[in-house]
Amino acid sequence: MIVYNFRGWVPGPSKHSSFIAGFTKKIMENKKYIIIGGSSGIGLSLINLITAEGHHVYHFARNRGTWENESQIQHTTLDILSDELPDTHGIEHANGLVYCPGTIELKSFHQLSDENFRNEFEINVVGAIKLIRHFLKALKKSRSASIVLFSTVAVGQGMPFHAGISTAKGAIEGLTRSLAAEFAPSIRVNAIAPSLTETRLAEKFLGSDERREAAGKRHPLGRIGRAIDIASMASFLLSERSDWITGQILHVDGGLSALRK
Ligand SMILES: NC(=O)c1ccc[n+]([C@@H]2O[C@H](COP(=O)([O-])OP(=O)(O)OC[C@H]3O[C@@H](n4cnc5c(N)ncnc54)[C@H](OP(=O)(O)O)[C@@H]3O)[C@@H](O)[C@H]2O)c1
Repeated sequence: MIVYNFRGWVPGPSKHSSFIAGFTKKIMENKKYIIIGGSSGIGLSLINLITAEGHHVYHFARNRGTWENESQIQHTTLDILSDELPDTHGIEHANGLVYCPGTIELKSFHQLSDENFRNEFEINVVGAIKLIRHFLKALKKSRSASIVLFSTVAVGQGMPFHAGISTAKGAIEGLTRSLAAEFAPSIRVNAIAPSLTETRLAEKFLGSDERREAAGKRHPLGRIGRAIDIASMASFLLSERSDWITGQILHVDGGLSALRK
């Protein structure tokens, strides 16, 4: 068996296996995560994944979701656009925060009003900033917290009719890198940039089998995304398995941003 030994960082087999055991124990510990927007789509899938691992979720959205492990979820009704933020009482410590609310308002540039741009910014960016600020103290209490935000494939690759959303999500990518620098080493901050994913948000683009199939064919991996594809990345980014990743935009997009077929 080859034992890699780089300047003693990963020593012989016995220390190596105790390191793995300690790491596994850390991963298995029950954590508390704040999820904003887990009543549907990617957030709902993420909640099902992390509660199945035994973790607890503080959930905020206008509606409850139909979750698989209800008893591990504490729901607070919140409209991020109009409501006062909830008291942090009771959430004194959190291991991570995921902000899911978003939009897909596709219009040509001349149809987009200033108001449209402001609305996109409000829900995608200002909402995320408010929630992070609100729960920062609780996140700082965890020695290695993780924040996960959402961008879109349309930031890295120009797409017609995406000016509203790509402007807002471009700001999310800037925010991700800035906060990652500012909060390191105690809090990691990353964003996921999905391509078209089958959720309530995207349903108007996927109204028929033909449209779904055509959208799938535009992706090198031959299909559109499923909520679980994106939620799996979010769950990885929350966990200690991604302990050395921060300030990154993770492209989960069936190869769309990187490949040409
Ligand atoms: N689906 C895609 O094709 C796609 C592609 C690229 C990027 N993304 C990004 O991925 C993220 C998740 O999207 P998704 O597809 O999972 O969307 P989704 O199914 O519509 O879920 C959005 C979640 O945000 C919550 N939310 C929306 N407005 C809110 C408000 N005003 N106050 C509080 N909560 C609110 C919704 O809950 P309530 O309605 O109960 O409040 C819901 O739980 C978004 O940031 C989106 O921009 C998605």
